[in-house]
Amino acid sequence: AYLKLDSSKLNRFVNSNEVPEMQALVNAANRELRDGTGAGNNYREWLHLPTNYDHQEFERIKKDAQQIQSDSDFLIVIGIGGSYLGAKMAVDFLHGDFDDLNSSNHQTRVIFAGNSLSSSYLHDLLELIDGHDFSINMVSKSGTTTEPSVAFRIFRKRLIKQYGAKEAVNRIYVTTDAKNGALRQEVNEKGYESFIIPNGIGGRYSVLTPVGLLPIAVSGGDIDQLMLGAHKAEDELDNPDLTQNNAYRYAALRNILYRKGYGVELLENYEPNMRMFAEWWKQLTGESEGKDHKGIFPASANLTTDLHSLGQYIQQGRRILMETVVKVNHPRHDVDIPHNDKNTDELQYLEGHTVDYVNTRAYEGVVKAHTDGGVPVMTVNIPDESAYTLGYLIYFFEVAIAISGYLNGVNPFNQPGVEEYKTNMFILLNKPGYTNK
Ligand code: PA5
Repeated sequence: AYLKLDSSKLNRFVNSNEVPEMQALVNAANRELRDGTGAGNNYREWLHLPTNYDHQEFERIKKDAQQIQSDSDFLIVIGIGGSYLGAKMAVDFLHGDFDDLNSSNHQTRVIFAGNSLSSSYLHDLLELIDGHDFSINMVSKSGTTTEPSVAFRIFRKRLIKQYGAKEAVNRIYVTTDAKNGALRQEVNEKGYESFIIPNGIGGRYSVLTPVGLLPIAVSGGDIDQLMLGAHKAEDELDNPDLTQNNAYRYAALRNILYRKGYGVELLENYEPNMRMFAEWWKQLTGESEGKDHKGIFPASANLTTDLHSLGQYIQQGRRILMETVVKVNHPRHDVDIPHNDKNTDELQYLEGHTVDYVNTRAYEGVVKAHTDGGVPVMTVNIPDESAYTLGYLIYFFEVAIAISGYLNGVNPFNQPGVEEYKTNMFILLNKPGYTNK
């Protein structure tokens, strides 16, 4: 298998009979997913997306990305939730921490907006792009989500002011539903370049659609490799046999642990450019599984940073945590620890080693400490931070969480709970059609 799932440290938490005893349930979950007999079966198009995507649209995305790179200093990507997290996570994952601050790097900066209602954020971003060329990618399946719609109004107005109404049309790229919604209507009226979010793919499963692909391509990410990696995962991860399928085994193990009272799962990394990966994973897992008053609560920790804050709780707080580490075997760059004549910093023992050598020993030490402290830890080992690996990793967690949801008896593809607050907000804002109950 391309990715290794290391569950060797779970021995004291999971007996050897437990995984095989989950096999029958996993087989049933697999049938629900593959045969479409489970709840939410209209939302499984992501399953075969890596082999079955619109190749013409894909080529158009690459062409448009080149256009944006040539005519824009900034691409403002407007979207929230599933129309934001995947793209942001991938752009961060595929690039170094300071790529966008490096002035010798003339690439278009991809910046996200419409993912909050912060007025200061919008103000500051408008100020940042002042005097620069920019384009907009508006991403919304429904076309009516408040946060992105507000941001779109503001940035569209700026665009028209800067370029005039006609040229502004050429700088607006819309990603939305094929037929429905306010945005599609606007696309038809104005003639914006547009891309389709397939009907059978929910927001949190949409990163490998144009939702993610256009921003990733503009950032310089290799979307061909991304899809190839996902394709490899689609090929490798369709066998329900728990001895063969690491994604399914991950799903089974986290459910075994959940049923023993480990109700919170921390996704962890040892690379700062993977912070947003955890945010993407939190939406994928939390929205898929947290319903009907059950489900693992997804959280995250960024290490070794958070060992100096959350570390205390993880080591000795309530025993409700399990950890899943995504560990990079070969980081993009490694750095030697230099020689120093004096040993006042007491680091001479590290001379001749690299920083990643220390990072990996830290990881090993943490796994042992947390395991000894009563926290179950699994590790997904990824070879590198390439686009190919990311494609595989995305599919790995998508298929794992779909199976995991079915194992816990929920519809992994709906999110009825995200609507509740909106009604209250609309009443408070006097939106037409909304009145107090
Ligand atoms: O997963 C989901 O459905 C949500 O997070 C949506 O992606 C989010 O609310 C944005 O919706 P839309 O793309 O319709 O603007």
